[in-house]
Amino acid sequence: MSVKYIPIIWNPFKTKYDVIFALFVVLYLTGFISISMYLYPQLIIDTIIIRSFGTLAILILHIILAIGPLSRINKSFLPILYNRRHLGVSMFLIVSVHAVYSIIFFHGYGVNNPLYNLFTANTHYESLTFFPFQILGFFAYLILMVMAFTSHDFWLNFLSPKVWKAMHMIVYIAYGLVIMHVVLGIIQYENSPILFSLLFLGLVTILSLHIISGYKEYKFDKKKSITDHMGWVYVCTPNEIDENCAKMVTIDGERIAVFKYGNKLSAVHNVCKHQNGPLGEGKIVDGCITCPWHGYQYLPDKGRAPEPFTELLATYELKLIGDKIYVNPKAFPEGTAIEPTTIPSEETKLDTDFFIGWLGKIPNSYQSTLRFFVPSLFIISILLIVIISNSTNKIRFSSYDYYKTLSFEGELLLKPFPMLRVLEMDKNRNPKVVLYPLVNEGKFGADQSVQAFLSQYPNEKRVFVQIQAKIIERDGQVAMELMNKKNNIKKIKFNASITPLVFGKPKDTIMKGQIIDPKCYLGVMNPGEGKPHRSCAINCIKGGIMPAFITENSQAKNYYILIGNDGKKVNNAILFAVAEPIEIKGKVQKIDNWNLLYIDAKASIKRLSYPIDSNYNCGLFQH
Ligand code: FES
Repeated sequence: MSVKYIPIIWNPFKTKYDVIFALFVVLYLTGFISISMYLYPQLIIDTIIIRSFGTLAILILHIILAIGPLSRINKSFLPILYNRRHLGVSMFLIVSVHAVYSIIFFHGYGVNNPLYNLFTANTHYESLTFFPFQILGFFAYLILMVMAFTSHDFWLNFLSPKVWKAMHMIVYIAYGLVIMHVVLGIIQYENSPILFSLLFLGLVTILSLHIISGYKEYKFDKKKSITDHMGWVYVCTPNEIDENCAKMVTIDGERIAVFKYGNKLSAVHNVCKHQNGPLGEGKIVDGCITCPWHGYQYLPDKGRAPEPFTELLATYELKLIGDKIYVNPKAFPEGTAIEPTTIPSEETKLDTDFFIGWLGKIPNSYQSTLRFFVPSLFIISILLIVIISNSTNKIRFSSYDYYKTLSFEGELLLKPFPMLRVLEMDKNRNPKVVLYPLVNEGKFGADQSVQAFLSQYPNEKRVFVQIQAKIIERDGQVAMELMNKKNNIKKIKFNASITPLVFGKPKDTIMKGQIIDPKCYLGVMNPGEGKPHRSCAINCIKGGIMPAFITENSQAKNYYILIGNDGKKVNNAILFAVAEPIEIKGKVQKIDNWNLLYIDAKASIKRLSYPIDSNYNCGLFQH
């Protein structure tokens, strides 16, 4: 209780509390990850980790926000409130996994610093539909970080309880940001009324509990006070105060707690110096008023904490007229000792239940609530895992084996985009040339590596090579990731069986769909499309990966690599319309098993809004 750093003070109750909570966290994460892997074996583990830690953090945030009002409404929730700070810090650690993983995964490995990319990749700040929801999560994370770092009592004493408490009220801003982050992010992408209803239910629960507890407090404070001719305020009769407990009375917006202990009465200011806990809801333990929130203690007649602690409280004079207790509303300076008022006749001694962590024992009357509440949380979390997992859109098969590098031989080309043309056999064992777009590791195109290699052979019209690459595949469409190591491309001899690249006849077209980066869409990310993936796709396309357009209806799905009408790259010009529904017009030209789509980036793209024409779902809601 003094301004110096003291590591967390443990007691058996805190240890038990933390063990149960750790069990809850482990069960939730194991359950979420196992069910997701079972239901969606094609979902990459990174996405599962981001989702499991994110949903768990939201669940814990709701529990944290519910505990305060619950324990004001019903005292038997106080044992859960006792260790709320551990819940808060643990929640911050859990949300850190979600936040850091998402920032690195979606915004890292590219041309820009991940944090720069976070703010600049998606710049549709003007639109609620296309709003960069990740930024809301980022600011919520910063708030939770400040709260976690300042949660220790050192900061409480350093800043003063008033400032500290006011500062920690920003948790409600963080909560609002989290709600918007989820609504404008994953809920919009999944388009799931169930997920929306769950979040709405959580919000309504938190609001209702705060309104109910707030109304209870308001009603109490609004009670009319009765004064005698000297302006002293009537409190109650001694019989109305349980032994070692208090009755509170509000005078000019300030609460005074009148304690009865033995045949004595003392009055102190109701606000605990630790975190403004309501002392009048506490109890006298070992001769000291004991705060119900974390157990700070004060001597009732002296208005000060017992030695060696130094916290002081304002004290008040009492008088007993007949069987009526009156309090003088004029406070004495903090720490002023006041002789207790004696109750002449023997009063009925009632001893009410009280809990504080360091006492160890949870009273029987509290246990039934906890026996119901704690297992209920476990059951609710299991139900949530099942509901959330089942409300996720079906994820299509895609593959990217990070650990498997293969050798391929074929013709290497730089234009119209980096590619390897390989001779393969079709179903009927006839030879055919298959084109594989090439990308580099990370979020980079392969232009520079291919150009550097081909520049060694300026006089050769066609260059044949062996490369080391990883396969990225979705719906039978395949791209290759070149390994970033020395000699990953080796020249081999001319292969006449691979016929030169032939460009088909260009055809005017107009289509609806979305622009993706083929590396993520085909398998490096899953899902690698739509709003949650937008910033990552922009990062990839900025890094030189060829942008592709996909269009899909119930009959077919087609891929087109976007090229400028002048044959140049359009990467930077199309960033404004990546991963959202668009209408595009241009000229389609077939090359091997892929299509080119020649466009004028400025004139050819029209942004659409959600939901678009149901015949063309843009690959956004097709699952
Ligand atoms: S508010 Fe923490 S002990 Fe009183």
